[in-house]
Amino acid sequence: MATDKIVTQARQVDCDCLPRHIAIIMDGNGRWATKHGLPRTAGHKAGSQTFETIATHCRDLGLDYLTVYAFSTENWKRSEGEVSAIMGLLKRYLNKAIDTMEKENIRLHFFGDMTPISPELRALIDKAHTMSARRTGFQANVCLNYGGRDELVRGAKAFAQDCMNGKWKPEDLSEALLSSYLDSAQIPDPELVIRPSGELRLSNFLPWQSAYSEFYFSDILWPDFTAEHLEQAIVAYQQRDRRFGGVK
Ligand code: IPE
Ligand code: IPE
Ligand code: MG
Repeated sequence: MATDKIVTQARQVDCDCLPRHIAIIMDGNGRWATKHGLPRTAGHKAGSQTFETIATHCRDLGLDYLTVYAFSTENWKRSEGEVSAIMGLLKRYLNKAIDTMEKENIRLHFFGDMTPISPELRALIDKAHTMSARRTGFQANVCLNYGGRDELVRGAKAFAQDCMNGKWKPEDLSEALLSSYLDSAQIPDPELVIRPSGELRLSNFLPWQSAYSEFYFSDILWPDFTAEHLEQAIVAYQQRDRRFGGVK
């Protein structure tokens, strides 16, 4: 469905050199709600609608992967009410998305440690994973109870276990082999990481995978983030000079 040029306010997205993979820290839901005199949970609801709009736009532009940060390993510090509202929104989204994804050949994956996630939500996640395995289209990855450090610890433990089982020797470990033990195994690193809401930090999001990503920060709160803002970020990315340590 990608067109050659997609018109933005100022410049155009060049669809011939799109990033394959964009990662987004969906931040600012709480502040958006406060600004509108609403409870924080209303911000998360609005944020989940933005996710649907942006995921559809990424797919329509012709990207291969979108990875979004939905709930971090640190977000359990929030009130029980806020945490259960976020989990409830995910359940509602999954119940709906499982059907739409089938029609549109979309793959949906979850990154993170699913151990503390409720059995009901885990069953939906497992269903989405099983159904996605049969497909080939655009892939959305949702980071849930995800922390980059936790991902590396889980990967290191799994590698150590495989060494004990005789599959590998410690000296076999390479960057590629360690990558294969991460949640993002088989997925190319994001070329572009976007963080709305004005915060200038990673907050434990994809530290391994973003080693050479381009970063784009915006003051827009996530519920206000539109397809045009996404295109502005892509245009900015397309003007960057990526050297990967070399000289041009
Ligand atoms: C991001 O929005 C969603 C989650 C972290 C779950 P926030 O809830 O962090 O919104 P702010 O940063 O408080 O505005
Ligand atoms: C990062 O946002 C996590 C998600 C967007 C899911 P936070 O709001 O939790 O990050 P900090 O606390 O501002 O670093
Ligand atoms: Mg936040």
